[in-house]
Amino acid sequence: MSRSCCVVLREVVDADLPIFFAHQRDPESTRMAAFPARDHDAFFAHWAKIRRDPANIIRTIVFEGEVAGNIGSWPAGDKRLLAYWIGREFWGRGTATAALAAFVLEVTHRPLHAFVAKHNLGSIRVLQKCRFIQQHSAPTVGEDGVEELLFALPQ
Ligand SMILES: CC(C)(COP(=O)(O)OP(=O)(O)OC[C@H]1O[C@@H](n2cnc3c(N)ncnc32)[C@H](O)[C@@H]1OP(=O)(O)O)[C@@H](O)C(=O)NCCC(=O)NCCS
Repeated sequence: MSRSCCVVLREVVDADLPIFFAHQRDPESTRMAAFPARDHDAFFAHWAKIRRDPANIIRTIVFEGEVAGNIGSWPAGDKRLLAYWIGREFWGRGTATAALAAFVLEVTHRPLHAFVAKHNLGSIRVLQKCRFIQQHSAPTVGEDGVEELLFALPQ
């Protein structure tokens, strides 16, 4: 279990999943992350799959005793990526920053990478506050036309 300020990271349990499902359905969140919501069946199938894979490191973010979101890391080609998702009711309280700070203490693989939509200023700020550095590769553009930036936490 990792802790930073008022945030605790712990293993994901089944009871967290309906909460994560609601978080990822929030339209403002999907716009920020430029990531479409999954429907019920796709969401639960996805989570069953990622929880089975021992290469994935996934944690529930608990803020003041409540499930506030999730953070995870997975191998992708020559990189280890990470991402996080905070429920809207927990925004603006330092939740993501504290969760990421705790996560990078627990997950010591370096470099750690994160792709972030260019318009997602909140997530960019979270990464910068945790010492991730924007990589100078050209922004990638997804099929949806959204530009993504690549950040890395070096050694
Ligand atoms: C982006 C997100 C993770 C931010 O979570 P949060 O818990 O509100 O972030 P924090 O409270 O730790 O804020 C960290 C910094 O970002 C800033 N910030 C947060 N949201 C912001 C926004 N929408 N616009 C501009 N700045 C923002 C905060 O002001 C703070 O900066 P400061 O310390 O200089 O004042 C959260 O809104 C979220 O999960 N969104 C949906 C999913 C998503 O985008 N995931 C990331 C995919 S890469």
